Amino acid sequence: MAKDTGLKSAFGGAKSASGGAIDLSVSFCGVKFPNPFLLSSSPVSNSAEMVEMAFEQGWGGVCYKTLNSDRIPIIHPSPRMNAYHYEAKQLVGLQNVEQISDRPLKDNLADFLYLKKKYPSHPIIASIMGFSNNEWAYLAKAAADNGADMLELNFSCPHMTVEGSGHKVGQAVHLLEKFTATVKHAVSIPVLAKMTPNITDMTEPALFAKKGGADGISAVNTFRAISEIGLGDWVAKPNVFGVGAMSGYSGSAIKPIALHFIAEMAQCAELGLPLSAMGGIETWIDALEYLLVGATTVQVTTGIIKYGYRIVADMIEGLSDYMSARGITRAEDLIGKALPNLKSTDHFDLERQGVAAYDMDRCVGCGQCYIVCRDAGGQALEWDEASRRPKLVEDKCLSCMICSFICPVPGLITHKEMPKGWARRPTGIMDKAMERQVKIPNMPLT
Ligand SMILES: Cc1cc2nc3c(=O)[nH]c(=O)nc-3n(C[C@H](O)[C@H](O)[C@H](O)COP(=O)(O)O)c2cc1C
Repeated sequence: MAKDTGLKSAFGGAKSASGGAIDLSVSFCGVKFPNPFLLSSSPVSNSAEMVEMAFEQGWGGVCYKTLNSDRIPIIHPSPRMNAYHYEAKQLVGLQNVEQISDRPLKDNLADFLYLKKKYPSHPIIASIMGFSNNEWAYLAKAAADNGADMLELNFSCPHMTVEGSGHKVGQAVHLLEKFTATVKHAVSIPVLAKMTPNITDMTEPALFAKKGGADGISAVNTFRAISEIGLGDWVAKPNVFGVGAMSGYSGSAIKPIALHFIAEMAQCAELGLPLSAMGGIETWIDALEYLLVGATTVQVTTGIIKYGYRIVADMIEGLSDYMSARGITRAEDLIGKALPNLKSTDHFDLERQGVAAYDMDRCVGCGQCYIVCRDAGGQALEWDEASRRPKLVEDKCLSCMICSFICPVPGLITHKEMPKGWARRPTGIMDKAMERQVKIPNMPLT
């Protein structure tokens, strides 16, 4: 079926600075994966034909498109997706109203058997969603009996057309616990609970999943969102024949929020379960960041929709080169490495202060730093018309660094620490006469 693309050569060739071979394999809930890069449950993992192509290009495993028992027929709305473009950047986010698999259960299970036979070292995680307690057990057993190495319980689709399913279960922690326990009693393979991000604190439902017996947690599913409203017809997109709906949002736009959910769960000692992370992963750097905050495996959908399965070659090469340069031989040694430095804001040393530092030799005189500092910063820049250059008044600089965010020359503006005791000039009052008229409430402040 699939052609050999030659990309497999990216496996295992790299050596670390100390000369040791790079080992990208990870053990996740007791299952060995050749690398941490997995397809997530979605259209990118919808059939054996697709998964085979992906495995040939280097993906280490698959979380298969969520299985349905066939009891309640699944019909996908049409159209089922909307792209959120931001300025010139395409597909910053992706909104979808797709349901779980509309393929007959038997066809999906036959695909498991095929994949397992041809790719025995590539684990299959079967994503399932029941619409009753008994159905969770039925699907779990069906998947386990036909080659699935693990299960992922979809407690998190935010736009199911079947009432009371998907993220409604993920938000009802006792139901989530009950269905997890049902599945655990039905099978002996490891079970992941896939969390909804449509909640404030993900550790709470994750702890209920643990109580139900979950062996690991995966997150995040898509965020409930409205990506765009049609200005002509006033219908949110995707416009399904005149009707829009709040539905699942994914892609690079969600990554910072998803990353924090993973880190928060990794920091929760009481939880202590292995994590499979997803949300906006497009590059090896995205994937690495998730490993550094505690994920053992990472899963991808929108990145593949945007660029194709081939992005895994960059992930394998990029991560291997990074490890090589740092003398790290095992990908597993990266897991959670950023957590000791991730603290609550009250740990900041507020005695230490800094300002922006400008490498003026590289300045192109565009003036954007001056405008942003004037309109949204500390008005710390003076503008010299003749030379078309900014001049920083250091003791007015807020160190917000917004000048560096819009400067077109990478690395021109950096942050430098000021000597101990250095103080920022307070912002002045426009009209001194007003100071005498200010009314301060005459009540104790405790
Ligand atoms: C079109 C589409 C369909 C999806 N279908 C499923 C699904 O059937 N089951 C599931 O657990 N997650 C599903 N997801 C969610 C993804 O698996 C993933 O959690 C989410 O998209 C975040 O990852 P990403 O930013 O890499 O896309 C779907 C996502 C998209 C975009």
